[in-house]
Amino acid sequence: MAVKWTPDLSVGVERIDTQHKICFEKANDLFQAGKSGKSKEKIAETLEFLEDYAKKHFRDEEAYMEHINYPGLEQQKIAHRKFEEEVAILKHEFQQSGSNINLIINANQMIIDWLINHISNMDKQIGIFAKKL
Ligand SMILES: [Fe+2]
Repeated sequence: MAVKWTPDLSVGVERIDTQHKICFEKANDLFQAGKSGKSKEKIAETLEFLEDYAKKHFRDEEAYMEHINYPGLEQQKIAHRKFEEEVAILKHEFQQSGSNINLIINANQMIIDWLINHISNMDKQIGIFAKKL
């Protein structure tokens, strides 16, 4: 499955949109690797990226929401912490037992959920709110 960032997902700030685009690109890399049977090699890199991405990106996004007095900030913070926890669990699992089919499936599922439910739904609302300011 190819997933793509589209302008209707814009949150109104270029820096955050760019971070979202990168997340879509990384997801595509991982799905592509899966197709060619290279998921195992890619999974460590993806987990590293997600950890790093989450830290920087959530900090920027939350600062922006605070700045515009976004009413859904608390809900977003809860979702962000949950994502960070999920990444930490996967990373721990990976360190314990290496890459296996379950871990690959879980990582793929987590990223798809994030792209569809979070960026394309929750984060999109930030942009809709920001446009009315
Ligand atoms: Fe978010």
